[in-house]
Amino acid sequence: MAGEEEKKRLFDFEQTLKTRLVGRPNSGANEYLASIDSTNNRLAALAREGAPEGTTIIAREQTAGRGRLGRAWVSAPDSGLYLSTLLRPRKDISELPVITLCLGVAAKRAVQAVTGLELGLKWVNDLIYNGRKAGGILVELPVGGKTSETGPFSKALVIGIGINIKHPPGTLPEEIAEKAIYLEDALGDGTTIDTVELAAELCYQIESIYERIEADDQAILLDEWRAASVTLGKEIKTASGDLEGTALDIDESGALLVKTRDGAGTRLLRAGEISIRSQDGSYS
Ligand code: BTN
Repeated sequence: MAGEEEKKRLFDFEQTLKTRLVGRPNSGANEYLASIDSTNNRLAALAREGAPEGTTIIAREQTAGRGRLGRAWVSAPDSGLYLSTLLRPRKDISELPVITLCLGVAAKRAVQAVTGLELGLKWVNDLIYNGRKAGGILVELPVGGKTSETGPFSKALVIGIGINIKHPPGTLPEEIAEKAIYLEDALGDGTTIDTVELAAELCYQIESIYERIEADDQAILLDEWRAASVTLGKEIKTASGDLEGTALDIDESGALLVKTRDGAGTRLLRAGEISIRSQDGSYS
């Protein structure tokens, strides 16, 4: 569903892009929508039909936005950037965590370039400002989910990024109000953030990290992640409660190296959700 406003935004987005690939598929493939269930769902459907690499879907609102681990991603109208872009890596897609970490670096760079705000990165996919969540990343495999599949469209990654920009009118559900932050509130000086500009910058930064990943040259990105990390050096625990300890580092696959609290040694955490211990002893 795209009206005049969305057509204008799509035009402005494509004009602002500085990329060669991301957001630059064959003409007519990108969409800027007034409302959709989820930009990731829409793009996954297009990917299965053979959409070209770089196809980008942006929506002003998502009615069933999705976060990691089956959670909902609250996506009120004109309240955030809800963007999905399609990559078809030539490398084997076997290491999603490392891609997610590098995308965190891309999102951090984009937010800094457009707003001046410096986000922190929480393993594995959270964009953090002042201890609160400003955005997140959801990478999905639209074709079967198997990395070993062959065929022209098997190598597809749907990159979904949500960034909170403007506090929606009214009150938010309590669990979100406590944890989320909107970038315009973080700026706190009445500045409005141009979603279209942020989308174009994000595509540019995604392309820049993608080129490095494809060239197997992501070590520098992982160093950038380490420098921005709000996780390393902290006491953490997994959501399932089966691991508690100190986050020491990330390895080259993006897994989190944790020194276990019971002193038994170290463990590598490859997936899942962690919370970080604050000074008052609570975890968030
Ligand atoms: C998370 O932190 O759990 C990930 C949130 C990802 C949200 C984005 S918004 C654009 C894309 N479409 C979705 O339905 N989800 C992602």
